[in-house]
Amino acid sequence: MEVQFQVIRQHQNQQPRIETYQLDVEPGHTILDCLNRIKWELDGSLGFRKNCRNTICGSCGMRINGRATLACKENIAGELARCETNATTGLPQMTIAPLGNLPVIKDLIVDMQNFWQHLESIDPYVSTEARKIPEREFLQTPAERSQLEATGNCIMCGACYSDCNAKQVNPRFCGPPCPSQGLPHDCRSKRWRDFQPPRNTKSRHGWGVGLYPLLCV
Ligand code: SF4
Ligand code: FES
Repeated sequence: MEVQFQVIRQHQNQQPRIETYQLDVEPGHTILDCLNRIKWELDGSLGFRKNCRNTICGSCGMRINGRATLACKENIAGELARCETNATTGLPQMTIAPLGNLPVIKDLIVDMQNFWQHLESIDPYVSTEARKIPEREFLQTPAERSQLEATGNCIMCGACYSDCNAKQVNPRFCGPPCPSQGLPHDCRSKRWRDFQPPRNTKSRHGWGVGLYPLLCV
């Protein structure tokens, strides 16, 4: 199947431009497979990050057909329902863009410095405060661990940070991953509606934004 890829390309501090590439692909090919083929077969100058190609490392976060996600997670079959059709060629047309709310270094590679700095502003990630320190390890039941699944499994890909409207209007807001790292570990039996900032959070910017939709890949 022939598919077109509209890739938003940019050099640091320059205007973005659109490059269109066309590939013969299979439905099961991931978007990362397609970007690899574009780079290896069509244009070696295309810049993007990747590492595990298995939704573990968080390197390949980017905007695919309008929303931030992982290029190694999404495949052609799934994206066909989301993408547009090229009016001239009649071919499916995928749009690939860098993550939002972060400055572009090159093409699909963004500068994650602000993301990491905001994460570091949440202290601690795991709190032992107000808990009796056991002689050996802290024991946790499967039920207690399951309460952390939505947040403890964060791979720091930046997708939620990219598409967060609160972050867009308030650059001082630390971004969605920070509350998710700082809170549930501190108050592991609480629910989201009981959410309170940890006492020793260094940066409180954004704790007052209220409920915002949690987007996670
Ligand atoms: S919480 Fe945000 S940074 Fe963490 S995995 Fe989900 S989308 Fe990525
Ligand atoms: S390459 Fe590691 S998450 Fe996609």
